[in-house]
Amino acid sequence: MTTKEAVLAELEKHRGRSISGEKIAGQLNISRNAVWKAINSLRDDGYIIDAVNNSGYALSNSIDNNILSAAGMLPYLSDENCASKIHIYKSLESTNKTAKEMAVGGCEHGTVIIADSQTAGRGRYGRNFYSPPGSGLYISIILRPGFLNLTNMTMITAAAAVAVCKAIQTVTGKDPLIKWVNDILLNDKKICGILTEGVTDFESGTIGWIVVGIGINITTDNFPNEIKEVASSLFFTLDGSPIRNRLAAEIINDLLSSNSWITDEGIYSEYKKRLAFLGSAVTVIESEKKYEAAALDIDEQCRLIVKKPDGSLATLSSGEVSIKRLST
Ligand code: BTN
Repeated sequence: MTTKEAVLAELEKHRGRSISGEKIAGQLNISRNAVWKAINSLRDDGYIIDAVNNSGYALSNSIDNNILSAAGMLPYLSDENCASKIHIYKSLESTNKTAKEMAVGGCEHGTVIIADSQTAGRGRYGRNFYSPPGSGLYISIILRPGFLNLTNMTMITAAAAVAVCKAIQTVTGKDPLIKWVNDILLNDKKICGILTEGVTDFESGTIGWIVVGIGINITTDNFPNEIKEVASSLFFTLDGSPIRNRLAAEIINDLLSSNSWITDEGIYSEYKKRLAFLGSAVTVIESEKKYEAAALDIDEQCRLIVKKPDGSLATLSSGEVSIKRLST
């Protein structure tokens, strides 16, 4: 960590409160002059740092300080070592694309790619994911769950959906739901999509690596009207404090904490209790086919069990179908 990042980490620990230059210097074992220089450089980067009584500094809690940084995530990470594997970019074509390139290049399990904006953010079925600067959290996490096989893929996506819901609940107090298989809804509208991509080792039948890409709309304030019609966000306007760093940290904690996404039983019940549309009439869209059905339940692999109009049951796997609730 550079001196500047270390100073930022100290300010982040006290966000909204003042800490003296002397205390930061003592904490980091550097001179007060070095602290002052780092503060000036952070201000040049756009951070709003208030000077308090000429000797203390306070990182403003205003939404304008909505800058993504590993130092900003550090106070919320349950394992500090995760911070060194977090890579943050101003703009990328797609965090999933960069993450896949890094996975192919051999990067470690737990490597995280985050971008403030994406120029070609991708969703399922080759759709675009609109990702303008400062408006969302666009994050891809690389997992190397060597002992899992292809049948566990749905569980990993389910674990990501649960992780996002829990993080949103912890950080904002809001209570989102999951639309099978991996859309996150608030007030019945999609605020987050998840795109899971990976490769399998054909010899062993296990997953080589997997990239879990998560896009959360924090605000749709600056979205064009045609996108606002189909996408919603966590907040109508950005009037709260900056939350992207904390949200990212909570998701990382959950997905990388040992066992959270491999103990099927835990994920299954957490997933099911947040599932929207259970018991509802839905439209199932299965490649070329489209039919009405009743969403009955999920099985232990989080596959959706539906009842077709002829009374027969079908078990649907992710990646093959999407569902829509029938309007009543
Ligand atoms: C969907 O709604 O179909 C999934 C959307 C997934 C979007 C995220 S944003 C971060 C990551 N990078 C991408 O290009 N896509 C995912």
